[in-house]
Amino acid sequence: MGASKFFVYSLLVLLLFVDLSVPGCDQFKFASRGGNCNTLNQRRSPASVNGFSVTPSNRSQVDVRGGEPAPQTLSDNFSQNSSTYDEDNDEFHFLVTGGYRRENDVLVKYLVSVQLNENYLFFGQNHHCGGSLISKTVVLTAAHCMFVNHKALSKNDLMVVAGTPRRLLKTSNTQERKVKKIIPHPKYTTHDVHDDIGLIHLKSEMQPDGSFVAIIPIADEDSPAGLECTVIGWGAIFEGGPIPDEAVRGDLIILSDKFCYNLNGFDEGMICASNPADFEVDACQGDSGGPLFSEGKVVGVVSYGNGCGRLNSAGVYADVYYYRKWIERNAATCSLPSWFRLPLITLAMHALRAHCL
Ligand code: ARG
Repeated sequence: MGASKFFVYSLLVLLLFVDLSVPGCDQFKFASRGGNCNTLNQRRSPASVNGFSVTPSNRSQVDVRGGEPAPQTLSDNFSQNSSTYDEDNDEFHFLVTGGYRRENDVLVKYLVSVQLNENYLFFGQNHHCGGSLISKTVVLTAAHCMFVNHKALSKNDLMVVAGTPRRLLKTSNTQERKVKKIIPHPKYTTHDVHDDIGLIHLKSEMQPDGSFVAIIPIADEDSPAGLECTVIGWGAIFEGGPIPDEAVRGDLIILSDKFCYNLNGFDEGMICASNPADFEVDACQGDSGGPLFSEGKVVGVVSYGNGCGRLNSAGVYADVYYYRKWIERNAATCSLPSWFRLPLITLAMHALRAHCL
């Protein structure tokens, strides 16, 4: 091969590589490799973030199922939107059955609300799914959150809100972002529950403040049976019930494959979890896409269940460790600056012209 031909080919290969490295492409261009990749934060957070040190005494309210009338969310919202956020006030909060709310929750800062962008009257009314912030610009969620009635949503259909422990209350800590790209797992279809994992790239960075908005690393090891974990979200407070204003936690344990494989639809790439002491503790509708945390990492993504909190059942989660490679590849954002791409393109065009003439 002549030198000029070789030069042209090299340029073309380089250009191809450049194109494949833009956000969301299946090129492995991850964090630790340097460059201007926007890295996933792999720092280990303090072990205390797991919810298991919590005793009933620091649960502020538990179980509102026993006949409490469900407060009117929308009218509540009027006053909430105009009031200041006071975590320790005595206002009524919705709570998931079996779940609990913790004063100064240290997990809620990793949780985001994935919302539908359609017209809405009240802030937070359009909560659609949960998600977790795994980098300043990337949210981990469920693939099924990217479809409505079997129809794929577009990036303009969704927005992401962080820094809202109370979904309906916008405060100075609240950060809302538009969506740049949504990436459901390529093998996910709306016909079953496999590969129910996806990523949302945000148009602009979230600003982690450490208290209300923070980045959570993804699992870097397998989640064995018996592992203590905590699910958190704004999902229904009981099967078929309303969704809460305030994010609620449930403490769970990863169950054995032997148990999980008895659940309808359970397969590779999934983990299942329940609370052996209280079968009612479970994720529910509206928690989907949200994180299952353990030891300062996100180990699962809320996917599905048979109803919610049923006896002898369990919630099913996409196994983050199983999908970590896919997550890392697709969460990487290595947008090469145009000043780098433009001269390359010009050079390639010149070389091509010279070569062909
Ligand atoms: N698919 C539900 C959602 O879209 C989540 C269901 C989780 N159910 C459970 N029992 N863990 O919000």
